[in-house]
Amino acid sequence: MRIFVTGGAGYVGSHCVKDLCEHGHEVVVIDNLCKGHRSAVYAKARLIEGDVGDAKLLRSILTATKFDAVMHFAASAEVGESVREPLSYYHNNVSNTLTLLELMRDAGIHKIVFSSSCATYGMPASVPIREDTPQLPINPYGRTKLAVEWMLADSASAWGLGSCALRYFNACGAARDGSIGEDHNPESHLIPIILETARGRRSQMSVFGTDYDTPDGTCIRDYIHVEDLASAHRLAIEAIEPGVGQAFNIGTGRGNSVLEVIEAARRITGQEITIEEVDRRPGDPPILIADASRIGQELGWKPDWTDIEDIVGSAWQWHQSHPEGFEDD
Ligand SMILES: NC(=O)c1ccc[n+]([C@@H]2O[C@H](COP(=O)([O-])OP(=O)(O)OC[C@H]3O[C@@H](n4cnc5c(N)ncnc54)[C@H](O)[C@@H]3O)[C@@H](O)[C@H]2O)c1
Repeated sequence: MRIFVTGGAGYVGSHCVKDLCEHGHEVVVIDNLCKGHRSAVYAKARLIEGDVGDAKLLRSILTATKFDAVMHFAASAEVGESVREPLSYYHNNVSNTLTLLELMRDAGIHKIVFSSSCATYGMPASVPIREDTPQLPINPYGRTKLAVEWMLADSASAWGLGSCALRYFNACGAARDGSIGEDHNPESHLIPIILETARGRRSQMSVFGTDYDTPDGTCIRDYIHVEDLASAHRLAIEAIEPGVGQAFNIGTGRGNSVLEVIEAARRITGQEITIEEVDRRPGDPPILIADASRIGQELGWKPDWTDIEDIVGSAWQWHQSHPEGFEDD
């Protein structure tokens, strides 16, 4: 397939682009590089530096080349920032996606895979979380993702859009071959922060809340390896049918507490990793674990990376071989 990928220079997008190219798909990436990295884009893919909200540019790209499908990763993705700057989140995540969908419709492209999030579930009443768990997001970021899911669903019946919203849990890890990995600035994800502490880039790290109703008192999350996200995207895009809107959770179905992840990192790195126990962050659910059985049943997907030590190990390999992250920054 010929696939147009937005945000393909970012963390998840770059791993998906690599996987698509390695499986024979032709890929064109658009990324404004506000967070992404030029050298994260797989060599066989073409990178166009530009903004998804630039309707003129997008129209020229989508009319010059006949694409079979779109993968849409480009978004602003920091929960705390979305609380401080909600309108910029609605602008980038909702308004720019609206532009993309209108231009897809005009260009006759009827397939899209969208990066949704477990943040659309808010504080779920029970775990594991199934796709039919009520979506009640508790922050602007989660609401922007849900708004896009609604646009996709409404577009299915109205103009025949085929869509697949993949609700990721906690993306983590790095490419098995060590070529690309996670390089966010500033870093806000747990595993890179742990590894920055292990490398002495931070003297210590905060553990937010040790009094949750979990076995060791810290929050439990479902850590899904970025290569497993990539295989889910590939299976989804290959299976989409025009006019049908679907949504799948993408997780391992297992949870690890913050302290368990830190312990795994201590074993992998051989470093002490000093922690400071601080208050809970408002809005952090105690446990988020996916029931990802639906995508297994419908598309035959299953995660290869299920051991937290292997997952942390892949991230550690990347951080050690790229101490300054990607070189084009
Ligand atoms: N990382 C996670 O754990 C996680 C979990 C759930 C959902 N998601 C979603 O997955 C997607 C990718 O996340 P990520 O962690 O790779 O983030 P990221 O910031 O690394 O990647 C996003 C990419 O999109 C680009 N971008 C942003 N706005 C753009 C615009 N207007 N035009 C062109 N490019 C633009 C950025 O430069 C970046 O390269 C996002 O939609 C995010 O909301 C991520």
